[in-house]
Amino acid sequence: MKLNKLRLSSLCVVLPLLMTSTNVLAAKVTLKLAHNLDQSHVVHQALAAMAKEVQEKSNGDLKIRIYPSGQMGGPRETIELIQNDALDMTKASASEMESFVKEFSVFSCPYLFDDEDHFKKVLFGDIGKALADKTKNSGFNIIASYVAGTRSFYAKKPIYSPADMKGLKIRVVSTPTTNRMIELLGGSPAPIPFGEVYTALQQGVIDGAENNIPSYYQTRHVEVAKYYVEDQHTSVPDYLIISSKVWDKLNDNQKKILQDAAKNSETYQQKLWDEETARSRAEAEKVGATFIKVDKQPFRDALQPLYTEFAKNPALAKFIDAIKTQGKQ
Ligand code: GCU
Repeated sequence: MKLNKLRLSSLCVVLPLLMTSTNVLAAKVTLKLAHNLDQSHVVHQALAAMAKEVQEKSNGDLKIRIYPSGQMGGPRETIELIQNDALDMTKASASEMESFVKEFSVFSCPYLFDDEDHFKKVLFGDIGKALADKTKNSGFNIIASYVAGTRSFYAKKPIYSPADMKGLKIRVVSTPTTNRMIELLGGSPAPIPFGEVYTALQQGVIDGAENNIPSYYQTRHVEVAKYYVEDQHTSVPDYLIISSKVWDKLNDNQKKILQDAAKNSETYQQKLWDEETARSRAEAEKVGATFIKVDKQPFRDALQPLYTEFAKNPALAKFIDAIKTQGKQ
């Protein structure tokens, strides 16, 4: 009897507390966002601006805590954390998404876009939306897309044509498409995480890598691989993704605030990108980089078999055809 009384009275104290904390939890949400870029990278800056906007517009009910610089691992790990309900959001490039959603491999097709305008029309237009719809079965939604310039090779020795790539070990974001690309150029692909490329170059484990100019400079790869070859083989966007389960749990107001802020971050990132590319190029030159202009045709010709291989897969061929035709409108 005594015991029951005690239980009842403690429940009376605990219950209101529990209810309050549940209500508080339902109203206030903090989303964890992890990515592998440095804080000076324009994608990080755009994400930070988004987090600020979300916090202000929701009066603190919705917050985003960012973990940059690969603190939670590379994109493969962070996407897996999302799938295992251990993380809410991450940033991943189209190549990094390829092993989760095969349609994203189309962005690793070399020389697919005529120019930047063509690329942006695809990324932000109907084709980009159709591609984004493909992620839902994998447990995440795309809420923003970011431009990432063009990727080119850089190495410890100058490269003027595919012939100079024979036997070179080149780091790639390892996917069937990127590995095949290196093999077609006569090199061997090395699957090294982004954060470990500097040491791998420094220690001579690899001869080169490939990336856009801001990443080449900000990662300081420029210090250990002085020759940046402007072959511009691919345009691979970055994506901001959120767990579908987490998205579904947000209320309508939180969804609107987050989606609007994510869209604004796209515009902001594009505004910063060109400036950052010019700045990184100038800074890279100051520390000794040599930018080599090359004839792209021999690279295009060597990589042509990739298109024949893509044509064998109807789902991918459909997107490639659409990008080449409707993508320019
Ligand atoms: C670029 C891209 C990143 C990607 C990285 C890489 O910097 O923006 O999303 O992770 O390349 O090569 O790993």
